[in-house]
Amino acid sequence: MQNHDELIAKLPKTELHLHIEGTLEPEMMFDKARKHGIKLNHGTVESLRAAYDFANLQAFLDLYYAGADVLRDEADFYDLTWAYLLRAKADNVVHAEIFFDPQTHSARGIALSDVVNGIVGALTDGEQHLGITWRLIPNFLRHLSEADAMATLTELQQFMQHFHGFGLDSSEVGHPPSKFSRVFAKVRALGLPVVAHAGEEGPPSYIIEALDDLKVTRIDHGIRAIEDAGLTARLAREQIPLTVCPLSNVRLRAVTSLEAHPLKRLLTAGCSVSINSDDPAYFGGYVGENYRQTAKALQLTPEELKTLAAMSIRGSWLSDAAKAKHLADIAAA
Ligand code: ADE
Ligand code: ZN
Repeated sequence: MQNHDELIAKLPKTELHLHIEGTLEPEMMFDKARKHGIKLNHGTVESLRAAYDFANLQAFLDLYYAGADVLRDEADFYDLTWAYLLRAKADNVVHAEIFFDPQTHSARGIALSDVVNGIVGALTDGEQHLGITWRLIPNFLRHLSEADAMATLTELQQFMQHFHGFGLDSSEVGHPPSKFSRVFAKVRALGLPVVAHAGEEGPPSYIIEALDDLKVTRIDHGIRAIEDAGLTARLAREQIPLTVCPLSNVRLRAVTSLEAHPLKRLLTAGCSVSINSDDPAYFGGYVGENYRQTAKALQLTPEELKTLAAMSIRGSWLSDAAKAKHLADIAAA
């Protein structure tokens, strides 16, 4: 098997599925805990990392929401985002569309202005100094009520100039997309596109609901579409981008192994698929590592790797001119 690491390093990459809270490395968690006088449940970075052995999505989310508690002020959100951007730069990421979870922070009494200003401050500096363009996407937490999401949307209206779309994440099973039909209709009426996590742990029917009910323009994960041939054909026909996160799917046991991951089957079926890192501090690798391990496990060819990078660009919310430039760079890689 040829080693494609050199090509992967060269490919201009876009991240379309990245939770900024999921880039909180244990070292920073301890730094911030010290700064704010917070006692963590784990005594050392090593014992915390050792706890990153998840039985399922919920087991991860419990730890992830607890970890986010160390993020308390604007500087914390700036530092978190800046640290991510430095890692992204090392992976040759040229564009990042980033999620954050407003309700995780507002529920703890953190001012959303601190959250938004910290993240946007770092993204703005990253664009200027690292050349990484960006979009910002608040996600609603689907385990909370529709009313809570609606109230959050109202509170976020004052920051709308910073947002490029809205999404839906958190505990999937038992919280179908239709629970948020009215909230998403309101977002769309404001003129913003919407995306949703669907078909990560939840059934293919959740993907169909996200498309038909929420009218999403992208599906986050979407891997369980492979269980429904009609849906797979529809996703291919409509070229709905699926923002796939291979290492996340292995770590959260949505797939039994990377070798068994449906990414290549979705690609072969004609679907628009991209490789992303989801919550890289928790899942053992940033986007470059997701490319490298997936390429090896699924024996992806150089052409397939370039196609994945190109699909990521095409699935982004960049302008046509910016897309054309990055696509030319991928072709030349
Ligand atoms: N929030 C952060 N990562 C997530 C994931 N993989 N699925 C659902 N919600 C999330
Ligand atoms: Zn995610």
